[in-house]
Amino acid sequence: MTTESIRTLPTPGRRLGVLISGRGSNLQAILDAIETGSLNAEVALVFSNRGKARGLEIAKAYGVPTAVLSHRAFPDRETYDAEIVKQLREHGADVVCLAGFMRIVSPVLLNAFPDRVLNIHPSLLPAFKGLDAPCQALDYGVRIAGCTVHFADETLDTGPVLLQAAIRVHDEDTHETLTQRILTLEHQIYPRAIGLLLDGGIRRQGRRILLSEAAERAAAEIHSEAERKPTYAQ
Ligand code: GRF
Repeated sequence: MTTESIRTLPTPGRRLGVLISGRGSNLQAILDAIETGSLNAEVALVFSNRGKARGLEIAKAYGVPTAVLSHRAFPDRETYDAEIVKQLREHGADVVCLAGFMRIVSPVLLNAFPDRVLNIHPSLLPAFKGLDAPCQALDYGVRIAGCTVHFADETLDTGPVLLQAAIRVHDEDTHETLTQRILTLEHQIYPRAIGLLLDGGIRRQGRRILLSEAAERAAAEIHSEAERKPTYAQ
């Protein structure tokens, strides 16, 4: 039994800073959830370390402020992260959502937003950290795969888990189909996980995140298109 004490995380404000490096489909899922009213939040800033990230176009299409800054122009991770923090603060961000941001964040960013930096990863952590997680899962031969929203820490894909969702792996799955089905699931759980954090009342005991009963019910309601068995071309 754990002896660590339980503490309630402070309820953050509802302004999100979303950090991306590429395609931005999770960013789009967040923006869509806000637009349809299922997530009560506002995207204050979309920040990218790559000027060519497609997610920047998505942000512009939704009328959201963007900022681009290459990490290459900075001598170290800390100086770069300090600049990100400055931009996030200037735009009044309360919570940071890493959405395909291909960089490990340093304590400079984590300490500026304590218990308020989330990340999404396409595996049931702690399995299959790092790149191409759905391919790793398929090649390993797992029967259940999924995705995880977790609090970020200084190491890759290791922070406390906030929400996970799972799907069955089918015999016909390929790297492409499993990656796509997990991505569809990501788009469902990330906005929900953000909503859980913004609604407050989340408690933490060591690594364990404890949800309120209502939050647990909401989390259990993830009915996934991704779970339906797709029809495969022969
Ligand atoms: C997603 O699979 C996410 O889990 C991982 O990076 C990918 C980003 O995709 N961290 P997108 O840019 O959100 O489309």
